[in-house]
Amino acid sequence: MARVPIFAPKFMIILSLIFSFSTILVNGDQDHEFVRSMDRKLLGLKKEKLSHFKVYWHDILTGPNPSSIQVVPPLNTSITAFGLVRMIDNPLTLGPEMSSRLVGKAQGFYAQASQQDLGLLMAMNLAFIEGKYNGSTITVLGRNEVFSTVREMPVIGGSGLFRFARGYVQARTHMVDLKTGDATVEYNVYVFHY
Ligand SMILES: *[C@@H]1O[C@H](CO)[C@@H](O)[C@H](O)[C@H]1NC(C)=O
Ligand SMILES: *[C@@H]1O[C@H](CO)[C@@H](O)[C@H](O)[C@H]1NC(C)=O
Repeated sequence: MARVPIFAPKFMIILSLIFSFSTILVNGDQDHEFVRSMDRKLLGLKKEKLSHFKVYWHDILTGPNPSSIQVVPPLNTSITAFGLVRMIDNPLTLGPEMSSRLVGKAQGFYAQASQQDLGLLMAMNLAFIEGKYNGSTITVLGRNEVFSTVREMPVIGGSGLFRFARGYVQARTHMVDLKTGDATVEYNVYVFHY
């Protein structure tokens, strides 16, 4: 009992310190802004520009180095292969030949999302390696009805030089090998970015 008065002052100091810290923390929240409007120049954003990129997208299903691999089989009751999912790491080249200059990869997946026809859900990042675009990406998400002459899909965003990107792509089949399923598709990408 005799020791209590000796410890009590220290205890009070600790208690008051804890309380004053918590007071500081609570007040500190008022200094943390949740949102503010800002000048776009602070992010180095000048004038928005429109660019057109043309690349060839190679869906290689067969051979020693396939770039497109089935990860979910289609429902075996489906005549349209509904449910099929393929993961892709498809080369993007400047010309239609695989030997032409590699400028990036289309990485993501496509899934057969239509029970009536061939309507793919495409979800992919065009990851560029060419010149100043090396490391920048464009994200495409959309519907690809592969038997249509021109398929349009939205560009929903991007990174690096494509921050704030918006736009669309148009895909046209250049070549399909009906035996293997390998395909080369011309992609025209129209994108607003800074
Ligand atoms: C579909 O797959 C299930 C399970 O693997 C199997 O039991 C069934 O026989 C298959 N149906 C057809 C039409 O192939
Ligand atoms: C792209 O950038 C990576 C990482 O910075 C680098 O290793 C690579 O050599 C570059 N590729 C080209 C084609 O410039």
